[in-house]
Amino acid sequence: MPEAGRSGGFGLYLHWPFCQAKCPYCDFNSHVSGRIDHRRWQAALISEIDRHGRETSGRILNSVFFGGGTPGLMPPDLVAALLDRIRRTWQVANDLEVTLEANPTSVESSLFQGFRDAGVNRISIGIQALDDAALRALGRLHDTARARAALETARAVFSRVSFDLIYARQHQSLSGWKTELREALEMTDGHLSLYQLTIEPGTAFGRLHARGALPGLPDEDLAADMYLLAQEMCEAAGLPAYEISNHARPGDESRHNMIYWTAGDYVGIGPGAHGRLSLGGKRLATEALSQPERWLSQVEALGHGEASRRSLSRNEQLAEYLMMGLRLRAGLDETRLSSLCVDDDLFNKINTMKEAGLLERCSGKLRATSRGRLLLDALLRELLPVEG
Ligand SMILES: C[S@@+](CC[C@H](N)C(=O)[O-])C[C@H]1O[C@@H](n2cnc3c(N)ncnc32)[C@H](O)[C@@H]1O
Ligand code: SF4
Repeated sequence: MPEAGRSGGFGLYLHWPFCQAKCPYCDFNSHVSGRIDHRRWQAALISEIDRHGRETSGRILNSVFFGGGTPGLMPPDLVAALLDRIRRTWQVANDLEVTLEANPTSVESSLFQGFRDAGVNRISIGIQALDDAALRALGRLHDTARARAALETARAVFSRVSFDLIYARQHQSLSGWKTELREALEMTDGHLSLYQLTIEPGTAFGRLHARGALPGLPDEDLAADMYLLAQEMCEAAGLPAYEISNHARPGDESRHNMIYWTAGDYVGIGPGAHGRLSLGGKRLATEALSQPERWLSQVEALGHGEASRRSLSRNEQLAEYLMMGLRLRAGLDETRLSSLCVDDDLFNKINTMKEAGLLERCSGKLRATSRGRLLLDALLRELLPVEG
């Protein structure tokens, strides 16, 4: 089974951990830093590309994803140097997807052409809300007019453009969400990510919430109605959900994310980046040091930025495969599931869930029904094997 990771494609995730400001809801590995020595960062990232290239030589790269943090703030010549090294290190697929995440600030929009010249062919913009008061409450540095302008610039430069919205925000009504979605669908080309706001411990929102100072969050029922409304409206507009939070015109799905959800292999480079690699008959999980300066110093001193590297047990692989695969509308491959699972108990639970209308079988795939997707967290808690 470990080598089955090779059938899900091969990608490279590169984490740029810096942002202009820290948003109060965000628990991504993102930091505000006045001084970034781009030359040191370039050398360290290139040395990590080289290191991973040595252990995965011969693989064909399907996707590169610059995630963050805010990679939209990277100097385009740094992006160009990294992509150049990547192309020299691996053979790349003819249709290599190269995505970069950006915020809709004017600084970033002015760099779009430079990113395209560097080889980026898909951009994902964090618009988050189409409501100025909501953007302020989310601590964003842009307003809706700026977001629209950034999207327009992006469209003129890139053939593939996606944007993110967050719903189930404070004081958001179902009718307000409907208006935003209608506008979003008019603005979208082929891909849209819609994330339900999660209150993460350790964030400013998490701290406010813990002391009851984050009023107006929707209850579970309203949040579920918002999710269902999004499914309905996106489907009607020709952008069905291909994953819980991601909608695309058929053919415009994010190839990079599909590598994660089909449990493919990916190299993770940069602070806090995770990787999954099928090597030597094992499925390896790698994780880089998350603190940017520590990561940089360790790469320079030891020649690698890893904090840990270990082989995943069969149960861990199974848990990941279920967690990822059931997020997909298409579901997961039953043959691969059977190759991982030696436990009748899991198949009994799956059968019970099928009878309850939460899971279904469809052309060799096991997938969550629309009701199952709505209850996915609870469903996974029930299914997931205990480590052993
Ligand atoms: C890596 S993050 C941010 C990318 C970029 N820096 C930005 O802010 O636009 C990717 C996406 O995750 C979503 N996100 C981050 N924190 C979230 C949270 N607590 N709840 C829901 N969505 C969240 C946002 O939509 C964001 O655009
Ligand atoms: S949401 Fe984006 S811009 Fe805001 S702190 Fe997180 S990564 Fe940075």
